[in-house]
Amino acid sequence: MSKFEPVLLRNRGVKDSARLSVYESRGGYQSIRKVLNQSVDEVIEEVKKANLRGRGGAGFPAGVKWGFLPKDRTKTLLCVNGDESEPPTFSNRVLMEVDPHQLIEGTLIAGYATKSQVAYIYLRVEFHEQFHILQKAIDEAYAAGYLGKNVFGSEYSMDCYIHRGAGAYVCGEETGLIESIEGKRGWPRIKPPFPAVSGLFNLPTVVNNVETLSCLPHIIERGADWFANVGPSHSTGPKLFCISGPVKKPGCYEAAMDITVRDLIEREDMGGGMLDGKKVKAVFPGGVSMGVLTADELDMKMDFSDPANYGLLGLGTAAAVVVNEDTDIRTVLRNVAKFFGTESCGQCTQCREGTSWMYKIAMRIEANAGRLEDLDILLETSRNMGMMPGLSICGLPDGAKFPIETVVSKFRGELEERIRSQSSDVKEVLESYR
Ligand SMILES: Cc1cc2nc3c(=O)[nH]c(=O)nc-3n(C[C@H](O)[C@H](O)[C@H](O)COP(=O)(O)O)c2cc1C
Ligand code: SF4
Repeated sequence: MSKFEPVLLRNRGVKDSARLSVYESRGGYQSIRKVLNQSVDEVIEEVKKANLRGRGGAGFPAGVKWGFLPKDRTKTLLCVNGDESEPPTFSNRVLMEVDPHQLIEGTLIAGYATKSQVAYIYLRVEFHEQFHILQKAIDEAYAAGYLGKNVFGSEYSMDCYIHRGAGAYVCGEETGLIESIEGKRGWPRIKPPFPAVSGLFNLPTVVNNVETLSCLPHIIERGADWFANVGPSHSTGPKLFCISGPVKKPGCYEAAMDITVRDLIEREDMGGGMLDGKKVKAVFPGGVSMGVLTADELDMKMDFSDPANYGLLGLGTAAAVVVNEDTDIRTVLRNVAKFFGTESCGQCTQCREGTSWMYKIAMRIEANAGRLEDLDILLETSRNMGMMPGLSICGLPDGAKFPIETVVSKFRGELEERIRSQSSDVKEVLESYR
């Protein structure tokens, strides 16, 4: 494992780290000054060379995405995705709280590279404190001439606004986010057209995650080669990892993508081990939508490639939630099914019906009224509602499938045992859901 010195969180713990003067005294806003003297193509090439892959969940290379914008466009808009609604993810929140100017500088760099005139930072509604911190930082940047007309005295101008969502998981999906900024219900759009061609207000639009953009000042400052050499070649750069659940030190930690799930749980400088000496039963390592690992699978690497070897959808948001040995796996199943069953926006029949039926079945299993065939019904339903079989507008049901499928298949023995030995006192448990 490589030795690691925090980059994205280097200002964490520094007094008044959110203030412009502090950010600048620690080297901030030098990268954008450098970028403004480069051509757009040079900046894009540097980001491509760094192999910066999106931190929002899909891991799509940022430079390649920017290249999809039509060459003959006259206007471009940039959306910064700070919806952060994947349970149990909070790394964007930490970045915005600790270092809002790092995000603003990254937004300026991406704005310049994509020739965007306006950037909208989309914030989930619950981020009240972060909204004020970020707004204050934006105000400071405007007052200093770093945002608005002719930033840093250059030819480039960019306005930056915060748009606060109303609180829906699906508004983190890029076209749901775009609809929401337009003031409509946050319903994802059918693609194509993709946002790069026709996005916000029908203009070419780039959507990038807060952490993705926060990497940009460091790529420019230290160079693409430096970034490309942090971590494995397919998963480059510094990365934030969250850990929550019954561990000694839940929190947000930074490392190269060469750590394992076990490191995240056990390392003294990370999770610090399990609380009360309990054993791990299961871990959702990439946000719940990526699926679950058993206690025998903790050597999975937290990079963009290894999760597939464990039957997971991907690295996702790299936010792990740990489940201990005392937890009933039926409760875990019901909990994840509930999330997706209540967050589906309802546009697509398979997603709307599939996620809500999976929730009902999972409730029934937890309520001691499950049937053995319910497990196969869950598997079949989960496989028949996502984008991958071409049955939905957005990826929410794919994210609903993986936790259900992996919990059912990896913990099938325990689920079957629970169903076989269940008492029939259903009423009391059902009451508890009211
Ligand atoms: C249901 C759903 C929810 C999503 N939520 C988020 C989110 O909260 N934050 C985010 O950055 N990306 C989220 N995404 C991914 C975005 O659609 C998009 O790919 C991402 O913002 C692109 O940024 P990146 O390329 O920098 O990763 C979500 C996707 C889906 C399907
Ligand atoms: S897949 Fe689900 S969440 Fe996505 S648009 Fe369709 S119904 Fe809405």
